[in-house]
Amino acid sequence: MTTSKALRQRDIDHVVHPYTNFKTLAANGPLVIERGEGVYIYDDQGRRYLEGMAGLWSTSLGFSEPRLAEAAARQFAKLPYSQIFGGRSHEPGILLAEKLTSIAPQGLNHALFANSGSEANDAAVKIVWYYNNQRGRPARKKLIARYQGYHGVTVAAGSLTGLPHVHADFDLPIAQLRHTDSPSYYHYARDNETVEQFVERIAANLEDLIQKEGPDTIGAFFAEPVMGSGGVIVPPPGYFERVQAILKKYDILFVADEVITGFGRTGEMFGSFTYGLKPDMMSVAKALSSSYLPISALLMTDDIYNAVADGSAKNGAFSHGVTYAAHPVCAAVALETLAIYEERNIVGHVKQVSPRLQSGLQALQNHPLVGEVRGVGLLGAVELTTSKAARRGFDPKLGFGAYVQNRALEHGVVVRAIRDAVVVCPPLIINDAEIEELLDGLRRALDDGLTHARKQGWL
Ligand SMILES: Cc1ncc(COP(=O)(O)O)c(C=O)c1O
Repeated sequence: MTTSKALRQRDIDHVVHPYTNFKTLAANGPLVIERGEGVYIYDDQGRRYLEGMAGLWSTSLGFSEPRLAEAAARQFAKLPYSQIFGGRSHEPGILLAEKLTSIAPQGLNHALFANSGSEANDAAVKIVWYYNNQRGRPARKKLIARYQGYHGVTVAAGSLTGLPHVHADFDLPIAQLRHTDSPSYYHYARDNETVEQFVERIAANLEDLIQKEGPDTIGAFFAEPVMGSGGVIVPPPGYFERVQAILKKYDILFVADEVITGFGRTGEMFGSFTYGLKPDMMSVAKALSSSYLPISALLMTDDIYNAVADGSAKNGAFSHGVTYAAHPVCAAVALETLAIYEERNIVGHVKQVSPRLQSGLQALQNHPLVGEVRGVGLLGAVELTTSKAARRGFDPKLGFGAYVQNRALEHGVVVRAIRDAVVVCPPLIINDAEIEELLDGLRRALDDGLTHARKQGWL
């Protein structure tokens, strides 16, 4: 079916698009995607694109995994919905909680389900507060997250997010939030500062913040192992070691947001394994179901679970939960996703193919537009710059990142521009030839960008 001009206009008239400039949308119209196959998607004009962003960092098994459709169909036919409030349960929910906690970092033995990453992080905030109330530490309510971090958009999760545009005019962040340094050496290192000195400085800033606020007022620290929507910021060596030592010293809970990094993305099952994290809670979503259906989970330790249980006794119930928690069809699809990861050794596959992506990206370091190349596993970014020496970005008003992103689309690959970072996060099933195709499209887009920037006199 070819989407008519009239249908596009109906989209513009009625759909409120997330993360969209409505004026640009009205001028250009939506890109309507009709179907998917493997790592490719097809628009309504029949054009094929290699989906180098796996949707929203999420469609790990690509766009046509029949086993997930079959798992959904089986569960739809058997029990399309049931709930887990007040002691009700069902098999897919039980099996998924058991499986997830068996593969998670040690000690995360309990799973609270929801629908999205934002909800899982919002629940984590509430549980930090609930936990500290049960443990007789009611003053420990402040939350520390990082500039450039992304944790979602709901009131608490949006507050954790350290990106100004997510706060602007929404009256966020909430009062309990404090933000600390981003670990991006490229963006925030001082002149002549070594990586070690940079890590020391931002760790000291974190400790200063904790002391200034009062350690007894801090509930938790939230971090993504690798920042995604902040522009693929890979933590410098030693960073999390220093941060975790500080958190331990002041008895502050650590919540790892593995919504992007979970399930093989970094070359281990979780980013926590790649970077030696020992979180007290961990949020997962996206690749939990290969994004075929919405489901998320917040995993927690026995200690936190026990406090939640104490609260349920004190208050008559743990009065938190959403209608679709552990939705049986979503849970069945997530279980099948995890089974496929295991059977196909998806972590092994990522280990095998990711060096090709990373070395291909590294080769772009010599491109005149590229200031830095970052990445780990099947996650990567090239940072656009007008001056390699000064590490200067483009004026955001020029929309240069978007230009490069659009050129990539013209060359048949989906990449995403996040300010000056052009990022890739392909489905985990991508093979060597497809990685070459993705890199080729990106290279051509950068070359187009260079010609354009020179023509405009921006360089
Ligand atoms: C690290 C991280 N946390 C949380 C979220 C929010 O997830 P959702 O969009 O499912 O609410 C995202 C979404 O991109 C994310 O990247």
